[in-house]
Amino acid sequence: ARLDLRVLDEVDSTNAEIIRQIAESRGSKIPVTIADCQTAGRGRRGRSWRSPRGENLYLSMGLTFHGGFSVLDGLSLVLGVAVAEALEALGAPTVGLKWPNDIFLPSGKLGGILVELQGELQEGVVQVIAGIGINVHMTKADDVDQPWSSLASSCPDVEWSRNRIAAGVISAVSEAAETFSSEGFGGFRESWQKRDIYLNRLVQARDGQLEGVACGIDDSGNYLLRTREDEVVPIRAGEISLRVV
Ligand code: BTN
Repeated sequence: ARLDLRVLDEVDSTNAEIIRQIAESRGSKIPVTIADCQTAGRGRRGRSWRSPRGENLYLSMGLTFHGGFSVLDGLSLVLGVAVAEALEALGAPTVGLKWPNDIFLPSGKLGGILVELQGELQEGVVQVIAGIGINVHMTKADDVDQPWSSLASSCPDVEWSRNRIAAGVISAVSEAAETFSSEGFGGFRESWQKRDIYLNRLVQARDGQLEGVACGIDDSGNYLLRTREDEVVPIRAGEISLRVV
């Protein structure tokens, strides 16, 4: 597929930029925006995403799917697999995934993916904005509330170029989106499963209301928890935040 690629010096959020880009052009190319820094980078659950200039990758893509919102089950996991595989192809050690798609190295969170929905353009046609943030050279982040890592600090033997990472991630994501569209989630399950950083650990879901041992994912990407009562409870893959158009 052809790309409509924009590289910006500064933007509020590359996700917000893609939403604007989609509104003004309804072409057949995949819109992609990369920025050197973001002034209002957003993370999941309404959090902000630290986006210092020049250090990291901030990239968003607009992806179109046919068949209504239900085809999106599993998409956010597919994006995690695509990014993980792209980073490994560039020299990263095995990249871990925290359900649904946080990107991890043993030393901490390496990146994140924010999936936003842009509603149905026409019957059954769904626009998804996939925003990917990867810590590449970041050295300082006092205000980040969890252990984090960067490619340069975890894999110093590789010369990390943001251009090469962007190229690898863009092609992996567009290819994965196409395969997911035509074949569904099934073919991605194993690649996701082997990266699961929660497997066999005791975890909580639903704001602490549910606790159980992490058992991996099912065919649609739902996360399975085995409770103390030996009941297996699926947690839905719908961690996608709905946006009002
Ligand atoms: C998370 O909370 O783990 C998701 C973080 C996603 C950050 C990326 S950076 C590029 C894109 N633009 C944004 O504003 N957010 C995403």
